[in-house]
Amino acid sequence: MANDPLLQPFRLKHLTLKNRLMMTAHEPAYPEDGMPKARYRAYHVERARAGIGLTMTAGSAAVARDSPPVFNNILAYRDEVVPWLRELSDACHEHGTAVMIQLTHLGRRTRWDKGDWLPAVSASHRREAAHRAFPKRVETWDIERLIQDYADAAERMQAAGLDGIELQAYGHLLDQFWSPLTNTLDAPYGGSLDNRLRFTFEVLSAIRQRVGDDFIVGVRYTGDERLEGGLTAEEGFEISHRLKASGQVDFLNVVRGHIDTDPGLTDVIPIQGMPSAPHLDFAGEIKRRVDFPTFHGAKIQDVATARHAIASGKVDVVGMTRAHMADPHIVRKILEGREESIRPCVGANYCLDRIYQGGAAYCIHNAATGRETTMPHTIPKAAQGRRVVIIGAGPGGLEAARVAAERGHRVLVLEAASDAGGQVRLTAQSERRREMLGIIDWRLAQCEALGVEIRYNVWAEAEDVLAENPEVVIVATGGFPAEDQPAQGHDLVVTSWDILSGHVAPGSRVLLFDEAGDHAALQAAEIIAASGAELEIMTPDRTFSAEIMAMNLVPYMRALQRPNVTFTPTYRLESVQRDAGELLATIGSDYLELDQQRRLDQVVVNYGTTPMEELYVALKPHSCNGGEVDYDALIAGRPQAVVRNAAGGFQLFRIGDAVEPRNTHAAIYDALRLVKDL
Ligand SMILES: Cc1cc2nc3c(=O)[nH]c(=O)nc-3n(C[C@H](O)[C@H](O)[C@H](O)COP(=O)(O)O)c2cc1C
Ligand code: SF4
Repeated sequence: MANDPLLQPFRLKHLTLKNRLMMTAHEPAYPEDGMPKARYRAYHVERARAGIGLTMTAGSAAVARDSPPVFNNILAYRDEVVPWLRELSDACHEHGTAVMIQLTHLGRRTRWDKGDWLPAVSASHRREAAHRAFPKRVETWDIERLIQDYADAAERMQAAGLDGIELQAYGHLLDQFWSPLTNTLDAPYGGSLDNRLRFTFEVLSAIRQRVGDDFIVGVRYTGDERLEGGLTAEEGFEISHRLKASGQVDFLNVVRGHIDTDPGLTDVIPIQGMPSAPHLDFAGEIKRRVDFPTFHGAKIQDVATARHAIASGKVDVVGMTRAHMADPHIVRKILEGREESIRPCVGANYCLDRIYQGGAAYCIHNAATGRETTMPHTIPKAAQGRRVVIIGAGPGGLEAARVAAERGHRVLVLEAASDAGGQVRLTAQSERRREMLGIIDWRLAQCEALGVEIRYNVWAEAEDVLAENPEVVIVATGGFPAEDQPAQGHDLVVTSWDILSGHVAPGSRVLLFDEAGDHAALQAAEIIAASGAELEIMTPDRTFSAEIMAMNLVPYMRALQRPNVTFTPTYRLESVQRDAGELLATIGSDYLELDQQRRLDQVVVNYGTTPMEELYVALKPHSCNGGEVDYDALIAGRPQAVVRNAAGGFQLFRIGDAVEPRNTHAAIYDALRLVKDL
C-alpha cells in the first residue's frame, strides 16, 4: 500500500496534496441563498474526513451578477460568501484535505429570467441550445467590469482561506471567446487565436495581481471541442502551452468536448453504458506535450482505473467525482485495504441530471449523500438487537436489510424470485443499463458480510412471516405493471415489462403507449425499434418520457432516432379491440374531441406499477402499529413508536413501490430513513 500510486503525495508549487485523488468541481445545488452553509460543508467534510487529497468546491461559482445561478450555484460575487467558505475550508483542512473552488462566468450558458434578470452575455449572439438564451454580445465596458469581477472573486476566495481557484473554460464565457463557433467579435477580442485568448489572459493577469504568487490558480478547459468548426485539438495543445508559458497558471485540468447540447454534455461526462475513462488518453497527451501539472476526471469510477491513470503517468491528479458521491469513503477504504467494499458509482447520473431540473444532486443508491446533516454514511449500532423480517429483495428491501444488519439486528429476507434485484434486475436486461446491477450486488455482498439470511423462491404469506416471530416486519414487495388499462381492451395489450423481460417478442406494427414516462417504456422501445418493427411511441403528456432527464435521454435518442420510429406526444390510447385479425387502437386527446384509429399487430402499454400490498394488508391486524408511520418522527430522525393495537406482536412498515410507484432512489431513501432509527 505504501507504493500505491494513488496514495503518493503531489507537490503543486508550495502546496502538497496528500494523495492523488480529487473531486473535480461539481455544484450539487446545495447552497442556501447562494451560500455554502451547513449542508454544503457537511458534504465536503464527510469526504475530507475519509482522506480525499483535494476537493474542488462549487462548480461554476458565479463571479458576476450577470452570471445568474442556473443550478443553484455559489454566488462568489458576494462578500458574505467569505465566512461561509472559511468555515468549510477550515473544517476540511482539519483533515488534511486541500480545498479550492471553481470560479466562472457562465456567459450564454444561463438564462436571462434567473437571479437579477440581467441580459446573458457572450462573445456572439449565438444561442446555447441547453439554456435557450440568445445572449447579448459583449461590449468593452462588459469586458472591463468582468475582468474586475473575476479578480474580486479570486480575492474573496483567498480571503476565505482556500488553497486555490480554478477557472472554468469549457462551455462558459472564457472559452466562448476561444471558440470560433461562439466568438463573432472583431479584434482585439475576436479573430486570431491570440485575440480569442486575450480576455482569458487579461483575467488571469488581473487575478494574479490581486492574489500574488502564493495562491494556486488553475484552468479547467476543453482541449478539443470535437465540433465541426470549433476549437480543434491542435488549438487545444497550443492553448495548453500558452497557459503554461504565461506563468500565471499552476495546473491544467483537461476536458474534451463541448457541453452546449445534451448529447455533447453526455459525451464529456459519460453515463452508464458508455466507455470508461474515454478522455484519459487525451489528457495524457496534453501532459506529455506540455509537461505541466495535469488533472483530469471523466467516468473514472473504479479505483483500478484511477490507479492506472496515475501509474501510467497520464495525469498527476485523478478526479473521481461521482464515485465519491456514491461512496464518500473511498480513500479510507483504500487505506484500510477494503477496496472491495466501496459502493460503486453505477453511472445512473441521477445526481447530475437532477441539478439541471432545479433539484439537488442525489445519488441513486446512496441516500445519505447530500443529506449528511440528517442521514449517516456510517450506520450506528442500536442499543438492542431485534428480529427483523423483510419481504422483498429489491433495492429497498436490500437497503433495509443492510442498514438493519449494520444496526446489529438479526435480519431475514424473504424473496419470491430466484434472484435478488426486483425492478433493477429487469432494468439491467438492457446491456446499456447493466451497471445498475451494482446497486444490488454491492448490497448482497454487504448483507452477506453482515450475516443477513436471504431465502429465495419464497412467496411469503402472512403465516410464513408470523412463524418467524418478528419484532419488525418491512414489506418491500414492490409493484407489478397495472393490469386494468386501457379499460377497454386491456386483455389485448402487453406491457413494457413483457418486452423488456423477453417474455413477449416485438410485433411488426407496434404502438407503445406510455403514461408513466419512465425508463421501462424507452427500454422496451429500444428493443422493439432494434427488431425493425414500425414503432409509434405515444404519450398523453406534452413531452415524451417526462421522468427521464436530459443526459439519460441521450443514449435512448441515439437508439431511437431512426426511420421506423415516431414520437406522438399529447395523444391518448382510449381502447383496443380485435378486428379482422388485427388490433384496432382508438386514439383520443385531452385537448379536443378526437377519434383516430391505428391498425396494428401489437399494443404495448406502460402505465407504471400498482403496489403489491396483499401481504401488507394481511399483516396489518397482527401488528402493533397497523402499518402507521409517524411522519414527524421519521423526518426528525426519532424511532417509530406508534401503538394502535397493544396486542400486536411487531411493528409493520412498507417501503418503496409497495407503497406507491416511485424510483430506486426513493425506495432506498425510504429504507435508510426508517431503518437507521429502528
Ligand atoms: C452534480 C454535478 C455537478 C457538476 N457541476 C460541474 C460544474 O459546475 N463545473 C464543472 O467543471 N464540472 C461539473 N461537473 C462535472 C464533474 O466535475 C466531472 O467532470 C464529471 O462528474 C465527470 O467526472 P466523474 O465521472 O468522476 O464524475 C458536475 C458533476 C456533477 C455530478
Ligand atoms: S447517481 Fe449514479 S452516477 Fe450519480 S453518483 Fe450515484 S451512482 Fe454515480
